[in-house]
Amino acid sequence: MDENSMNEIEQLTQERPELAALARESLDAIEAAGTPAELEETRVRLLGKKGSIAAVFKGLGSLPPEEKRTLGQIGNALRTLAESELTARAARLKDAETKERLLREATDVTLPGRRLPQGHDHLLARVIDDVTDIFVSLGYKVVAGPEVELDFYNFEALNTPPHHPARSLQDTLYVRRSDPVSDDPKDILLRTHTSPVQVRVMESERPPLYVISPGKAYRKDEIDATHSPVFHQVEGFAVSEDITMGDLKGTLEVFARKLFGEERAVRFRPHFFPFTEPSAEVDVSCFVCAGGGCSLCKGVGWLEIMGCGMIDPAVFSHVGYDPEKYTGFAFGGGVERIAMLKYGVDDMRVFFENDMRFLRQF
Ligand code: DAH
Repeated sequence: MDENSMNEIEQLTQERPELAALARESLDAIEAAGTPAELEETRVRLLGKKGSIAAVFKGLGSLPPEEKRTLGQIGNALRTLAESELTARAARLKDAETKERLLREATDVTLPGRRLPQGHDHLLARVIDDVTDIFVSLGYKVVAGPEVELDFYNFEALNTPPHHPARSLQDTLYVRRSDPVSDDPKDILLRTHTSPVQVRVMESERPPLYVISPGKAYRKDEIDATHSPVFHQVEGFAVSEDITMGDLKGTLEVFARKLFGEERAVRFRPHFFPFTEPSAEVDVSCFVCAGGGCSLCKGVGWLEIMGCGMIDPAVFSHVGYDPEKYTGFAFGGGVERIAMLKYGVDDMRVFFENDMRFLRQF
C-alpha cells in the first residue's frame, strides 16, 4: 500500500467524504480483482477516460483557484495510489498464478518408477564372449569370415581332398555345385566349420598371427538333442617362426582352466584332422564327478571340448607360407557343446527355441 498517497488523501478529503469513499472503493475494487482480465477492467473503470478517478478532474476549470488546487491534488493522489495498487495487485496475481501452476505441474519424485523388463545376452552369446575374451586377453585378435564360402577355403586349402566324406551331399549344404559327382574348389557352400577363416587370414596377412574367430557353421544334420543344421564354433590359430606343440598345450590349458575352473585337469588325445599334423582332441576333467565317472562324462571322467593340432604344412603351401620357416597351431570347437557342458544343458534345441522359461534361467 502506498502509505504516502493514502495519508495525503485522508488529509485532503476531510471536507470531501465522497472522495475519501472513492479512495476506499478504488482500493477494494483493485483487491477484489481475481484475474489479470478483471484487474484490467477495474483499471479502466478507475483510470480510463470515463473512469471514476478521471471524473474528479472534470469541471476543474470552472472552480475557484483554491478549490481547484485542492481537488487537483486529490485527483493526482488518487491516481498515484490507484496506479501503484494496480501494479502491486498485478504482481500478486502473477505470483499466485505461478504458484498454482507449479503445484499443478509438480512431479512426485517419490513415486516408484515403471519397471522395464530387462533383457540379457543369450547363453550362446555369453559363451562366445567368454571364450573370445580369454583369447583376447592372451593377445589374440578377433576376425570374422563369410558363412557362404568357397569349397577352396572350406575344404581344398584345408587339405581335405576331393571325395572326402565331409564333402558329400549328405553332410554339406551346397549353394552352387558345378558338377553333381565331382568336387570343384569353386563350388559355393555354407561353411561346415569356422576353419576356413584360418586360410583367409593367412592368405591376406603375414605372421606372426594370433587369431580367434567365432561364428556360425552349417551341416546337413537333422535337429536332435546334440545336432542342429546351424550351430556355432570358435576357431583359433597362431602362426609364427617357432611355435611348438608345447605352446598349443599351454595355451589350451590356460583357456580350459579359465573357462571351466582353475582346478580342471586337461589332456590331449591323439586324433585326426586333415588340416593339422599331429592332431588331438582336448578333454577337461569332468566337473561334475571330478574324474570319478558320472552321467555327464558317461563314466569316463573326461569331457571332450575341442579339436586341435599343429597346422599341416600342406595348408601353409596353399597360402604361400614357407613351411620350413613358419609353424603354427590351430584349434576349434562347438559353442553349443561347450555351453551344454558348462551350464548342464542336456538338449541343444533349447538354445534355438527361445522359450523364455529357459532363457531366463541364465
Ligand atoms: N574344424 C573342426 C571341426 O569342425 C574343428 C577343428 C579341429 C578345428 C582341429 C581346428 C583344429 O582348427 O585344429 O570339427
